[in-house]
Amino acid sequence: MAKLVAFYSRAGENYFGGEKRYVEVGNTEKIARMIAELTGADIFRIEQELPYAADYATCVEQVKKDFLEKARPKLLREPENMAQYDEIYLGFPNYCGTMPMAVFTFLEQSDWTGRKIYPFVTHEGSGFGRSENDLSKACEGAEIGRGLSVVGSRADDAGAEVKKWIALSEQ
Ligand SMILES: Cc1cc2nc3c(=O)[nH]c(=O)nc-3n(C[C@H](O)[C@H](O)[C@H](O)COP(=O)(O)O)c2cc1C
Repeated sequence: MAKLVAFYSRAGENYFGGEKRYVEVGNTEKIARMIAELTGADIFRIEQELPYAADYATCVEQVKKDFLEKARPKLLREPENMAQYDEIYLGFPNYCGTMPMAVFTFLEQSDWTGRKIYPFVTHEGSGFGRSENDLSKACEGAEIGRGLSVVGSRADDAGAEVKKWIALSEQ
């Protein structure tokens, strides 16, 4: 069985425990890299053609607009030979209580019948929010496995949690 870690993540300005900071690597990307290393899965970044701003306040405005318009941002690329993957670890930050719109674009362009998805989210308090429900709707035919929810600002310390979750998902 071929495995893929597909993730959306944004570097730039974000909140870390009440403080704004610029980062080179986003929280979800950190978790995605841990999963790829532990499972040997291929890794793919879900990236929109027009990225959101690095500046936090501008990004929030852009995200809200896309959310209200139910936008489906165009993606930069697709995974090579997506058809080979039957287990997908799907990671995203919680944006406005659900997945970023680009993740919807990614999900809606594949046939999920018979595939298994293990979702993981990073957030600052809302956990998965509505995203697991939205995920089931967007991926008809997929089996959705147990999810992992990590507080984004604590991503660096999530190694043990991630390991435990992978062990459970592989049972
Ligand atoms: C535009 C935007 C909207 C967000 N909305 C929420 C939210 O509704 N609930 C929440 O708990 N966190 C929210 N967050 C916090 C992010 O989910 C959190 O910082 C996440 O770890 C960012 O992941 P990344 O660094 O991989 O992009 C939001 C962050 C941004 C930038």
